[in-house]
Amino acid sequence: MSVFSHPDFDGHERVLFATDPETGLRAIIAVHSTRLGPAAGGCRYWRYASEEAAIADVLRLSRGMTYKNAVAGLDLGGGKAVILADPEKPKTPALMRAFGRAVDALGGAYWTAEDVGIEVADMEAVHASTRFVAGLASGAHASGDPSPVTARGVFEGMRRALRVATGSDALAGRTVAVQGLGHVGANLCALLHGAGARLVVTDIDEGRIAKAVAAYDARAVAPAEIVAVEADVFAPCALGGVLSEDAIARLGAPIVAGAANNQLADEDAAERLLARGILYVPDFVINGGGIINVAREIAGSDDPAFVETRLSRMVDNLESILIEARDAGVSPHDVAVRFAQRRLAGP
Ligand code: NAI
Repeated sequence: MSVFSHPDFDGHERVLFATDPETGLRAIIAVHSTRLGPAAGGCRYWRYASEEAAIADVLRLSRGMTYKNAVAGLDLGGGKAVILADPEKPKTPALMRAFGRAVDALGGAYWTAEDVGIEVADMEAVHASTRFVAGLASGAHASGDPSPVTARGVFEGMRRALRVATGSDALAGRTVAVQGLGHVGANLCALLHGAGARLVVTDIDEGRIAKAVAAYDARAVAPAEIVAVEADVFAPCALGGVLSEDAIARLGAPIVAGAANNQLADEDAAERLLARGILYVPDFVINGGGIINVAREIAGSDDPAFVETRLSRMVDNLESILIEARDAGVSPHDVAVRFAQRRLAGP
């Protein structure tokens, strides 16, 4: 297994492998860049098919955080952590404390927070071992669950995408297909329903589907069907890699705007979407709300304007990226990457 020659290795500053036999912890922390400040990004708890899959995930996710934080205008670098879930050893506070010790060993080069499979209570346990953790429920400047702010960013970003594509940002009467009804997806459904949108939803968890059907009058489809649903917007809010060659060919919506990280399954996905005339809103731009919320806690600020100012700047940046891409006939993903790289190269 290689790291330096891994296809997703991109000059990452540090990659830390952490184990704790007592609790069964196996974690990888990747610090992609501290160019703009301490690296920040969530911790994912996931049952990976292999160690290779976990390495690829953490390398890609941490680079994505560098770009996300740069586009969101935050003075933070990019990092991410993954914990390889072991079905034999459940997630316990002791395991999270062991993970916290690994975070602490980096001396503040990396700040952790929630990602898929991690709850606020888990971060509270991490806090027993390190101060370099955000997304806490209590204590000075605690910012809690970042998901509602992520959902708000996706909601506002979706409206901007509709405006760029159709001339109107109205959601009333539009249909949005939402994949994944977890922390972000459920909050997004509430906002969309409130704005009068029709919802088509899916999840691999039947209970979550039932809730969305009851609460938001949503229509449910099987997980395999969601990409092909005829809708105004497809909102991926589950895991990454959803925009594969096959999925892009079957997509039933002219706009993709959702929270999931790393939606593009491969290098050619952005070009394939462009060729099909589908407006793809870059994931690392539209899903920056959560890290903006976390950034307030890292900055030690209690000012609500901290989040609001940055959230609206993020959405403005998103719209200018979409307009620039439309006018130049190129993929918004490429424009967004250049946007981030300009900031990273700046003084
Ligand atoms: P979550 O774990 O709360 O929800 C994910 C949901 O997707 C779960 O309900 C799960 O059952 C469902 N799911 C998994 N595989 C699926 C499949 N094949 N088809 C349909 N549903 C499936 O995670 P969360 O926090 O809501 O995050 C969702 C996505 O947004 C992730 O990719 C995450 O990295 C990204 N994200 C989350 C942020 C946050 O603030 N929570 C911030 C930025 C990005």
